[in-house]
Amino acid sequence: MERRTIGAGGLAVGAVGLGCMPMSWAYSGSRQRGEESVRTVHRALDLGSNLLDTADMYGPFTNELLLGRVLKERRAEAFVSTKVGLLVGEQHIVANGRPGYVKRACDASLRRLQTDVIDLYQLHRADPEVPIEETWGAMAELVRAGKVRALGLCAVGARGGRRSGTRLHDATLRQLQRAQQVFPVSAVQAELSVWSPEALEALLPWCEARGVGFLAAMPLGNGFLTGTLTPGEGFEPDDLRARHPRFTAEMMAANQPIVAGLRRVARRHGEEVTPAQVALAWVLAQGRHVVPVPGTKRYRWATENADAVDVRLTARDLTALAELPPARGSWD
Ligand SMILES: NC(=O)c1ccc[n+]([C@@H]2O[C@H](COP(=O)([O-])OP(=O)(O)OC[C@H]3O[C@@H](n4cnc5c(N)ncnc54)[C@H](OP(=O)(O)O)[C@@H]3O)[C@@H](O)[C@H]2O)c1
Repeated sequence: MERRTIGAGGLAVGAVGLGCMPMSWAYSGSRQRGEESVRTVHRALDLGSNLLDTADMYGPFTNELLLGRVLKERRAEAFVSTKVGLLVGEQHIVANGRPGYVKRACDASLRRLQTDVIDLYQLHRADPEVPIEETWGAMAELVRAGKVRALGLCAVGARGGRRSGTRLHDATLRQLQRAQQVFPVSAVQAELSVWSPEALEALLPWCEARGVGFLAAMPLGNGFLTGTLTPGEGFEPDDLRARHPRFTAEMMAANQPIVAGLRRVARRHGEEVTPAQVALAWVLAQGRHVVPVPGTKRYRWATENADAVDVRLTARDLTALAELPPARGSWD
């Protein structure tokens, strides 16, 4: 698979990564597919899709444990990307960026992942109670201690979705500038997809100008852009889409022209090419520093997503996708 470089340190990864969140968290049926999930991670590594994106919060903890089963055997082939800074409480998810907590959490992640070093350690959310310099300083100490290779910062909204708009990105840019004063940022992770292109405005150019990698979260629009979901499809209460404003029957119907546009472009590339692959090819086309991390627990879809590197969009395709109507349905 084509390789891309994350950050100034020059860490090379497969151009399409694997988002591991749906194996344990946020989507219904996650917990019933543990064995398939393990096979899916192996499949991704076989195909060179070696950036495995997880977080201690996914599960909580079980997603890292699941990856640890694979890493125990294949650590050298993988690029391990995990996150710190969010805790699942009784009622709410809370941020914790205190230095002592960050260091303990890193040791716990290393144990669960069955490795002695994390390639990319990301701050999942900045803690409003702790200056980012303190949290980032503790993360930098983990690099100096050899427990972590590089640091990243996530810029995803509090509800994991559409708050990833311009306002969020302005706040993120301020955080990034402060973090950079303490220790180099190697990667930024934020939502980027055909139906959520806001990161193109300021976040992507900021990264490109500084040699910072960009991990595109939710590149398939939480599954919508694959064209496999139908309007009116019910989601279990534990599925993030049950409360997501773009996944009401009305909004799923209103956003069908976006899927139709992806399908039209897919057809130009052959019978086998899918809307999901076009959605990923669009993300890949946004810059050599961009690595999409499509999430899946399924062997078949990990294969399909990795193969998206071979779909090269033309200028005509990119124009057609740029002209798609903006997505309907917003958190605000
Ligand atoms: N930093 C953050 O705060 C943050 C927030 C959100 C996400 N992320 C990261 O970004 C990754 C991707 O986001 P995401 O997983 O929420 O959303 P996504 O990648 O946009 O979509 C995932 C959904 O699409 C389905 N899917 C995947 N490939 C498919 C294909 N080829 N055909 C049909 N359906 C397909 C998956 O189904 P199955 O579940 O059935 O496999 C899953 O329901 C996560 O895994 C996580 O690592 C980070």
